[in-house]
Amino acid sequence: MSEKLALVTGASRGIGKACALELAKAGYDIIVNYAGNAEAAEKTVQEIKALGVDAAAYKFDVSNKEEVDKSIAEIIEKYGRIDVLVNNAGITRDGLFMRMSEENWNAVINTNLSSAFFVSQPVVKIMMKQRSGAIVNMASVVGVSGNAGQANYSAAKAGLIGLTKTLAKELGSRGIRVNAVAPGFINTDMTKDLDTSKFTEFIPLKRLGEPEDIAKVVKFLAVDADYVTGQVLEVDGGLII
Ligand code: NAI
Repeated sequence: MSEKLALVTGASRGIGKACALELAKAGYDIIVNYAGNAEAAEKTVQEIKALGVDAAAYKFDVSNKEEVDKSIAEIIEKYGRIDVLVNNAGITRDGLFMRMSEENWNAVINTNLSSAFFVSQPVVKIMMKQRSGAIVNMASVVGVSGNAGQANYSAAKAGLIGLTKTLAKELGSRGIRVNAVAPGFINTDMTKDLDTSKFTEFIPLKRLGEPEDIAKVVKFLAVDADYVTGQVLEVDGGLII
């Protein structure tokens, strides 16, 4: 077992899985959080272990404070520390604002924004004791620019950016850095139903991003960027320059 532990939420697939693998390559043991697909989570755990570090899957719903508190307490009891937290889990429930249901508003705010409050609070507690730690929040370019049809999602991601900057100010003196990544269009299950050919025209790099493009930047912010905190790094092929 290595001495450093990273917790990645929503890590059984997509961007979260790529982040987990990238942090494993950097020598971190990994906690793979997942919501429902135990088989996919276990496959991720095996892929991480093949890189020579330890990994374990923990099922909890990041939007449920009780489940989060119970699982984080178990993780801390077992491993004694958390060095990196990637708040990655997220969902979309798109629709025009005037037709948006309260249910879809709440689901997206709870899963994408309140989750970061629930998960970060107990993690920051142990990071404060360690006097070190790094948090990376998975925002989105639409949290910076807004997007028609995504009032709930844009508000949640903009909220994550505000949370990132505030925690950076509150926790810097404790040796804890907090940054955000704002991906553009990335090839994952979340974007598989979009006609992405329409978007590449507006992307200077003329392609969608891959989960690994995001993971490399997450690893940079979490592991290498010792003097960077409170920043939002857009990783979007130039989409919102
Ligand atoms: P994805 O749908 O493949 O992955 C999302 C992950 O979050 C899944 O593993 C899912 O099970 C997990 N999750 C959802 N609700 C959860 C809950 N309540 N508790 C625990 N886990 C939960 O999509 P993708 O693209 O990998 O998304 C990852 C993050 O990146 C999300 O926060 C998303 O908003 C963000 N993002 C994605 C972009 C894209 O173009 N794909 C663009 C900008 C941001």
